Amino acid sequence: MNEWWKNEVAYQIYPRSFKDTNHDGIGDIKGITEKLDYLENLGVTLLWLCPIYKSPMDDNGYDISDYYDINPEFGTMQDLEELIQEAKKKNIKIIMDLVINHTSDEHPWFKEAMTNPHSPYRDYYIFKSAKNGKAPTNWRSVFGGSVWEKVGDTEDYYFHAFSKRQPDLNWENPQMRQDLYKMINWWLEKGIAGFRVDAINFIKKDQRYQDGAVDGADGLSACFAFSRNQPGIEKFFEEMKRETFAKHHCMTVAEAVGVNYPDLGIFIGDQGCFSMMFDFNYSNFDIGEDEEWFKRKTWSPKDYRELLFTSQREIQKIGWVASFLENHDQPRSIDKLIVNKEDHNYYSKTMLAGMFFHLRGTPFIYQGQEIGMVNFTRQSIDEFNDIGSIGQYQRAIEEGYSKEEALHFVNLRSRDNTRTPMHWDDSEYAGFSDTEPWIKMMDNYKEINVANQLSKEPSVFQFYKKMIALRKAEPILVEGDFEELSEMPDDVIAYSRVSAEGTISCLCNFSRNSIKIRNIEGIVLLNNYPEYQLGELKPFQFVMIKQ
Ligand code: NOJ
Repeated sequence: MNEWWKNEVAYQIYPRSFKDTNHDGIGDIKGITEKLDYLENLGVTLLWLCPIYKSPMDDNGYDISDYYDINPEFGTMQDLEELIQEAKKKNIKIIMDLVINHTSDEHPWFKEAMTNPHSPYRDYYIFKSAKNGKAPTNWRSVFGGSVWEKVGDTEDYYFHAFSKRQPDLNWENPQMRQDLYKMINWWLEKGIAGFRVDAINFIKKDQRYQDGAVDGADGLSACFAFSRNQPGIEKFFEEMKRETFAKHHCMTVAEAVGVNYPDLGIFIGDQGCFSMMFDFNYSNFDIGEDEEWFKRKTWSPKDYRELLFTSQREIQKIGWVASFLENHDQPRSIDKLIVNKEDHNYYSKTMLAGMFFHLRGTPFIYQGQEIGMVNFTRQSIDEFNDIGSIGQYQRAIEEGYSKEEALHFVNLRSRDNTRTPMHWDDSEYAGFSDTEPWIKMMDNYKEINVANQLSKEPSVFQFYKKMIALRKAEPILVEGDFEELSEMPDDVIAYSRVSAEGTISCLCNFSRNSIKIRNIEGIVLLNNYPEYQLGELKPFQFVMIKQ
């Protein structure tokens, strides 16, 4: 089978913050089309667009009220068709975000379900009656608070794993599933190359609907054990694949947090549903398993290396992965991985780039990552837009942290960190818009922007460009197996990609000091320093060697 997606270099666009062309401070589809030359120059071959469907924007588009329409703030269906065509001329494919665990509470199905309990749409969602005068279970939603929302003054509740404006669809209902499949096929027939599939491991719930052990001061129990990665979910995957993806030979990337490695098969095994998945086991290394941001975990580069390598080894046994450092739900990688701000520079940023980009899998670059954008520090919770940040702030306060502490946790992890507007140049609003953007900008856009890196050597942008070009030229970097390079110091992440055609090794120094390593000889293909001295890595050096 031609697994074309293995050769792609993907770039994730957060349309709200990419480029505004109609002067409303919100990025739009025409803005993406306008920047296709830039993306072509960078070398990426596939774009993942975060949701642009009709939506009241409670969770910035992950709450869809019409799957068949575009939210007017982003433009029109015609704009999207034009983007698809123009991108195609440059051999750039487009994948859309597919949000089918839940809809918006403004979706007509849900509105009908709420107003008419006898409507067939009532069973498109999960409604349950009160238990002993209280919510049906004690489960906590991802954004905080109960997963259950009371329906007016009735005894009924509806279920939402995320915000109360994102009611979960009832996947036990075959008619509902057929309606989703119809929509998926409709989009694929439009000429998109596939989907990033949102929160897909949430679609099956534990049908017993029993309370869990209380695990927080709010008296609730994290919903994950009951509404994520549940047995039986594979039946839904099999059917969806058969009815949709398999007919189009499209690329699909599952967003699936908390999957244990023995369970990978149903996602990305031979008969699995998806072409690849994001593995968050090495991405959420700084917080606890239930993903509450105030539960900080200490870690070292060695711990991180172990997580990363375990991920590579386990996935290699089964299938293919989407490698990433950042996305719209994660902070900027430089802040997450290089804790000391004094160490944030060209070397550390390109070292991280080299480290993740050459892992076995399809690399995904998040907008702004290629110019080394960084996190912000906001002074008050009122400055945040992200619903998750507000929920996590409240959870931290509930658990007894002070406002300052709660704000600190949110600043470290806020999803707004990567949602600030893209820095195109050093003009007011960074060339993103000519009017005040929908979300507060970073104030360092005069130093970190596309314009001043486009022709500057060395620059983070130029480094990304070189990596992309090399990947296209070196099949080993696509097909090669992953192998750990052992006997390395704790602060060094070193691995090889190995195929019948040869071996390429990547050496990454995670420390601000020079480090002695064993000799790795060969031809230097890429280096973030002018020189590579055998047996040594300079502070935050990345070097790639062909043996
Ligand atoms: C994952 C998305 O990436 C995130 O932004 C969203 O809030 C949740 N799924 C709910 O759709």
